Amino acid sequence: MSSAAATNSLSPAEQQRLRELARAAAANSYSPYSHFRVGAALLLADGSIITGCNVENCSYRLTSCAEQAAIARAVSECGPSIRLRAIAVANLNNSASMPCGACRQTLSEFGDDDVLILYPGESGANESTTLGALLPHAFRMQFLQQK
Ligand code: THU
Repeated sequence: MSSAAATNSLSPAEQQRLRELARAAAANSYSPYSHFRVGAALLLADGSIITGCNVENCSYRLTSCAEQAAIARAVSECGPSIRLRAIAVANLNNSASMPCGACRQTLSEFGDDDVLILYPGESGANESTTLGALLPHAFRMQFLQQK
């Protein structure tokens, strides 16, 4: 996906700052098993920026991804009404990496299809896309309503 894929209103400087904050968050990663240090920086609708990193566990399936850690922190600090404008993810392995499938679903709980997703592409390229492009058929809370 090219950087032209998303047409969110973040300026290049705002995007760069979000990417840098995600990268800084990755420095705190607890990842002794994968050694894949990931950071995420959420930009909320009210302008707040909340970061998180991945936190692994020796019972591997208990690992929290950076995006999920950031969402948990955002709700904890800002309350249940948070809405996402954008998210940047970064890793310290110089790898191309997008939010995993589970994280896409987690993000969709708090954001619409136009949430801007900034991620590292091949060879250090700054790539972007949208949540709707990454998860076109999210499971939505409306599905829980009985008919
Ligand atoms: N990881 C994330 O933090 N976010 C993702 O979207 C993909 C994977 C973490 C989980 C684990 O600690 C490591 O990267 C390797 O999978």
